[in-house]
Amino acid sequence: MVLVDDFGREVTGVRISLTDRCNFDCVYCHNEGLGDTRGPMDPSDEEMSADDVIRFLEVVEEYGVRKVKFTGGEPMLRADLEEIIRRTPDSMETSLTTNGTFLGDRADDLVDAGLDRVNVSQDALDPEAFAQITKSGAYDKVMEGVKAAVEAGLTPVKLNMVVFTKTAGYVEEMVEYVAENEGLQLQLIQYMPELTGRPEWNIDIDRVHRWLTDLADDFETRDMHHRRRYYVGKGMVEIVDPVENPEFCANCHRVRVTHSGYLKGCLNRNDDLRPMGEMTRDEIRETYEAVVANRVPYYGEYMVRDDEGGWVVNEEYIGV
Ligand code: GTP
Ligand code: 5AD
Ligand code: SF4
Repeated sequence: MVLVDDFGREVTGVRISLTDRCNFDCVYCHNEGLGDTRGPMDPSDEEMSADDVIRFLEVVEEYGVRKVKFTGGEPMLRADLEEIIRRTPDSMETSLTTNGTFLGDRADDLVDAGLDRVNVSQDALDPEAFAQITKSGAYDKVMEGVKAAVEAGLTPVKLNMVVFTKTAGYVEEMVEYVAENEGLQLQLIQYMPELTGRPEWNIDIDRVHRWLTDLADDFETRDMHHRRRYYVGKGMVEIVDPVENPEFCANCHRVRVTHSGYLKGCLNRNDDLRPMGEMTRDEIRETYEAVVANRVPYYGEYMVRDDEGGWVVNEEYIGV
């Protein structure tokens, strides 16, 4: 039975961070809602085990969850990633969000394990800008990784580009790139300053919408987050605009799990709970039901500005 929250949102997907370690240190990184990154390659002693991840997936399968996104940090730093994907319930579509550095070597293994799709961060088709943004010299490896993923059949491979002051000048070139190359899609992601504290990096994402509306052959609106998709040449460009799009959070159908096993109803909030590694299956069921019951959209009409300019829940909507 699929659970529905107080705002009418069915929960059909989960997004699991498998580690907060990363071999990059992107300047914009919100570290999956945990705030500033701990720095590249920090060892972590508190990652969920493969058994804990699978136990959680088996429980939410009972609640009709049919999509799982594995992310990080950099999820490919986990040697047991293929094992986790192989043991994921067959009823679920599996996707991975990665910085792409290790895809060249492992794309085929991931497909063998049952991975369906992959999203790769790629913020600029320019090695120097790439190095400045990611603090890494892995540009060529990432480009090879994207190619390997397309060849392995993980298509459409989505390129994730965070649009902010340092990348805005590269948007046009990136759109041309996916329009001309088979098997690629582009996600233009509005920079979210909440957890990284640099509001001066924001750009006007509506300008990008207007530009694409003129350029595209066609467009449609995706159910998840009401994201707009533009069809340009051989490619597709999706805009991820949580801050500006009033329908985004109102159409959010996924809950999250942090690398150490804490369930979260929303990227930008922490529910005060125990990690799932310490719970029985029944306790996970109970906790999952409570987290879904407490879900509140973050951006949009359900939220209002407080005196300091932050967001708080509009009391009118609680328990709708
Ligand atoms: P698919 O398109 O289904 O592969 O998922 P996705 O686009 O959500 O996955 P990805 O991991 O590539 O995330 C892209 C961007 O969307 C990231 O910047 C995320 O932070 C953002 N994002 C994903 N889910 C949410 C969400 O629930 N809330 C908010 N505010 N942002 C999200
Ligand atoms: N704002 C928007 N997107 C972000 N990402 C990371 N930090 C931010 C942020 N502050 C995106 C990257 C990465 C994905 C997991 O999250 O594009 O691909
Ligand atoms: Fe953060 Fe992803 Fe960049 Fe790693 S690759 S620093 S997790 S945005």
